[in-house]
Amino acid sequence: MPHLTIQGETQLNGKVAISGAKNSALPLICAALLTDKVLSLHNFPMLTDTTKLLEILSELGAKATIIADKSGRTGSPQQLEIEFKDIISPLAVHEAVNQMRASILVLGPLLAREGQATITLPGGDAIGARPIDLHLKGLQQMGAQVEIIDGKVISTAPKGGLTGAHIKFPFISVGASEHLMLTAALAKGETILENVALEPEITDLAHLLQKMGVPIEGIGTSTLQIQGKNGVPLTSASHHIIADRIEAASFVIAAIATKGNVTLTHAHPDIIKGFLDILTKNGANIAIDGHQITVSGAPENFNPITIDTAPYPGFATDIQAQLMALLCLVDGKSQINELIFENRFMHATEYQKMGAKIDIQGAKATIHGGAKLHGTDIAASDIRACFGLVIAALAAQGETILRHIYHLDRGYENFEQKFKGLGAVMKRHT
Ligand code: UD1
Repeated sequence: MPHLTIQGETQLNGKVAISGAKNSALPLICAALLTDKVLSLHNFPMLTDTTKLLEILSELGAKATIIADKSGRTGSPQQLEIEFKDIISPLAVHEAVNQMRASILVLGPLLAREGQATITLPGGDAIGARPIDLHLKGLQQMGAQVEIIDGKVISTAPKGGLTGAHIKFPFISVGASEHLMLTAALAKGETILENVALEPEITDLAHLLQKMGVPIEGIGTSTLQIQGKNGVPLTSASHHIIADRIEAASFVIAAIATKGNVTLTHAHPDIIKGFLDILTKNGANIAIDGHQITVSGAPENFNPITIDTAPYPGFATDIQAQLMALLCLVDGKSQINELIFENRFMHATEYQKMGAKIDIQGAKATIHGGAKLHGTDIAASDIRACFGLVIAALAAQGETILRHIYHLDRGYENFEQKFKGLGAVMKRHT
């Protein structure tokens, strides 16, 4: 399995172009199931997660073309054109389905368009149980019959198709919000979704659906009213995917942890304002200029902090592992309470191998920071943990061997090129 060797005590300096958001691209790709016309997605990130989803859709009949521009930019220079003239199969059982949680987003749109859909139960990162009950309950409220048999979700729409419904989520789920938005777009009549997630990727999806002809009210709030098109395929559309806020936040933390000075280009600072404010308040220097964010700082000038992860606009669980890497280097006692996923501290063990002092008690991690980290042989448990381990490796003394780097390939476009462009010394061994 490929691994990376990373040289420690390296400062990151220079410019890095932020890519299109992975977590936007995945639901946006699924919107292609709702139309028989071409959907164009600009700022499209080439990642194993996005290309695997395209493979899954190709088996269902999608024609996908990637059009590269010649700018040489490392952050999403390409455009995706995808067209689903005819759906050739209602069975989404490609092996990639159970490698990626977001593949569940195929189910509702396929069901709404075809009247039936079967999908292998989706997999994904090892960060908790990650049930799909809210997704399935929402489809049932729209009239679908749903059964789980032999590791597959089998769903059927009633005669006359799915009907709009009033769905109130008992708690916030990004994926269930997106899934039912997509499905509601082709249902008959109005769907009201209450307690919808507020993540910027939800707003991005709502904007695309509007461009495809679906009237939606309440965008940016926790209640959405969606007027479904009653099975009539949506129109074609062209859309620019928002910048990846998690990638941007990851590089911001990396700059501070390595005592560097990094300018992020093609970013959307407004969607990570809360995060940037926390860092500024605690010792980072951050300047914003349009789509650029320039950050400098050092662990010795940073305060220990206590953070709870929360749905947007709270502190993202997807930045928790990277922040932990920084807090290992910051003098004093910090605390992270992981309140979204029940099993998302697996990276702590790897930081401990590097010399960090961290106590885990259930959902609470106490970081006794300021210890010198040293390079060693470590492995990543999920996409974000993998970036966190790169940060720790760059700050540590000596060389680190980082394993399970397929996680980086899943979620960070051109990450080696981007890190090397900032002065990192790393080598991929295959
Ligand atoms: C999305 C993001 C992921 C991020 C997460 C939380 C994508 C592709 N992934 O994941 O990067 O970490 O939001 O911000 O956008 N839950 C249930 N039942 C359900 C659905 C969810 O119990 O039917 C639980 C989950 O186990 C979790 C919590 O709800 O504890 C939030 O999960 P959710 O917001 O759905 O995360 P994802 O959409 O899977």
